[in-house]
Amino acid sequence: MKTALITGITGQDGYYLSRFLLEKGYVVHGTVRRASLINTYRIDDLIAKYENSGQLILHYSDLLDSSSISSLIQSTKPDEVYNLGAQSHVAVSFQNPMYTTQAGNVGTLSLLDAIKHSDTEIKFYQASSSEMFGGESQETLNENSILDPKSPYAASKVFSHNLTKIYRESYDLFCVNGILFNHESPHRGETFVTRKITRALGRISHGIQKKLTLGNIEAKRDWGFAGDYTRGMWMMMQYEKPEDWVLATGKSYSVKEFLEKAFSKLELDYEDYTLFSEKYYRPLEVNYLLGDSSKAQNKLGWKPEVDINQLIDMMLEYDINLAEKEKVLIENGLLRPTWEHSE
Ligand code: NAP
Ligand code: GDD
Repeated sequence: MKTALITGITGQDGYYLSRFLLEKGYVVHGTVRRASLINTYRIDDLIAKYENSGQLILHYSDLLDSSSISSLIQSTKPDEVYNLGAQSHVAVSFQNPMYTTQAGNVGTLSLLDAIKHSDTEIKFYQASSSEMFGGESQETLNENSILDPKSPYAASKVFSHNLTKIYRESYDLFCVNGILFNHESPHRGETFVTRKITRALGRISHGIQKKLTLGNIEAKRDWGFAGDYTRGMWMMMQYEKPEDWVLATGKSYSVKEFLEKAFSKLELDYEDYTLFSEKYYRPLEVNYLLGDSSKAQNKLGWKPEVDINQLIDMMLEYDINLAEKEKVLIENGLLRPTWEHSE
């Protein structure tokens, strides 16, 4: 039975990856940040199913706490480490550049160094990002494309990406970079644009939200499904040697096209509901992202199973059900709708 350590297990990818590994029989250790409110809601079902048997074990930790990171590597003795933890919101990284950079980089360095000093057989996955490319031209991007980051978040991802390569080449460690294009799901954070749209649409459909406020809807992204991408992470770790891999669908749509598709599924016109605010524009934008995942498709046998229409259907179904429950709570005075003002 293999053991995995996942940083950022409470995030979207942490949920899909840990579910996948647990179903494969792995023992999964995950790091959780202490917060004043309980922040494990994405993995609560997994905790209920796997914690008592000892197959899922959670540890309080933070990527900035190097001592806890290195003691976790020693105490959990993982076969595979997946470094998913990050302040992952690009717009927020302009407001909190120092924290984004430190959390993104100190953690990677602590993990790699702890592996180097404790057990060089441990495999390491780094959550690299298509944001690193910068998206200035309408080029199809692969593992050899030039990195040209456009935010503190992306700059920090480039640092960790390079560090992962440096440890691989210097110390012969099994370290891989997964350069993942945007991937979404019903468990996507609510301030990322796709979920912001489907969450609003669910509430609009139940009459508990009137308008949705967005920023630049001309930007284009290559959007896939998080469950497909976390399966790809595992496949990279099973490959005969450590390399860098792009995961993408090979199709790019603008935020406006996503909006149109989502609203038209409920026979609504997004223009009747959408407002725009400077607040959601970024100091520098990544205009165009389109990935070429042929290396992963040919060498790993990975392919995306969910297309954009299925993805929107999945997210909408979830968010319409969620809004129905919220409506009941509002009617009973148990919930106050504050989302018109949210990010
Ligand atoms: P997410 O939902 O924002 O989850 C991020 C996770 O990191 C959460 O568990 C969060 O904990 C944790 N975290 C944040 N700061 C931390 C710190 N200082 N110490 C320890 N943990 C910390 O992100 P995601 O979508 O699952 O993405 C997973 C990883 O892939 C991230 O590194 C992201 O940058 C990268 N990535 C994502 C995409 C995408 O499209 N989703 C594409 C490329 C790369 P809390 O729950 O306590 O906040
Ligand atoms: N979040 C957000 N909110 N984005 C908006 C909004 C809004 O109200 N209005 C327009 N956008 C535009 C952004 O300007 C951006 O061009 C696009 O929608 C996508 O934004 P996000 O969903 O926040 O994702 P992202 O592409 O910036 O970053 C995500 O994908 C990266 C991979 O390419 C994150 O998951 C990163 O962590 C990940 O690395």
